[in-house]
Amino acid sequence: MSTVASSTAYDAHFRVWRGDTGGGGLQDFTVEVNEGEVVLDIVHRLQATQAPDLAVRWNCKAGKCGSCSAEINGRPRLLCMTRMSVFSREETITVTPLRAFPVVRDLVTDVGFNYTKAREVPAFVPPPGVGPGEYRMMQEDVDRSQEFRKCIECFLCQDTCHVVRDHEENKTAFAGPRFLMRVAELDMHPLDAAADTGLDRKATAQEEHGLGYCNITKCCTEVCPEGIHITDNALIPLKERAVDRKYDPLVWLGNKIRRRGE
Ligand code: SF4
Ligand code: SF4
Ligand code: FES
Repeated sequence: MSTVASSTAYDAHFRVWRGDTGGGGLQDFTVEVNEGEVVLDIVHRLQATQAPDLAVRWNCKAGKCGSCSAEINGRPRLLCMTRMSVFSREETITVTPLRAFPVVRDLVTDVGFNYTKAREVPAFVPPPGVGPGEYRMMQEDVDRSQEFRKCIECFLCQDTCHVVRDHEENKTAFAGPRFLMRVAELDMHPLDAAADTGLDRKATAQEEHGLGYCNITKCCTEVCPEGIHITDNALIPLKERAVDRKYDPLVWLGNKIRRRGE
């Protein structure tokens, strides 16, 4: 069956990074664009017509699976949620893989760093003596966590954060905005019983997850496709609580006594 190109179709100029772990570079393509299309449609058309081995990761094409993350004109974005209509027809559109993570091939990167960091955040500790279905929380506490639960794990915030974007050496010590947000969520959870087990989430945020590296530039918030206020609602409150704890006279006294007894 033949398809009839829409009368509003035009040819766009694309530059796409192609290569693998050994290196690569930008390749130029001229490709047809139709009304209503997104950048992922164009990448698929490239695969269908000119570059059948072009590697790209995607799944839902609906902004929900978080797999099609890449950089468009140098800005971290979802390929499936970036409309072609935001660019002028004359513009050259450059598509490159996420810069903060190692390339596997073409537009596909190895985002394993993020799964390592996810595993380093201790899980929610259920409150003792409260069974499933018996948890009760104030609605405002539910709403607070709910915002963070919208995360689709696209890792665009991780990619854009300057702490690791240009500083590979910081990756060991810094969890990145997505996982500092997870620590913040658990720390503000009214039912989390981590403290009863001796786990101080505020202290670990500073000492193990690198909260101090964040200088609240809000770049992570700007690229989040879910519109989560990562900096204002998670990172800044976590920093405030971590500092409060540091200057809390009772915590200070407790540390002194513990140190003397050591
Ligand atoms: S606000 Fe913090 S975590 Fe977010 S991009 Fe800036 S330095 Fe990174
Ligand atoms: S917080 Fe936003 S940008 Fe970061 S991984 Fe989640 S959805 Fe993506
Ligand atoms: S393909 Fe699922 S978010 Fe883009």
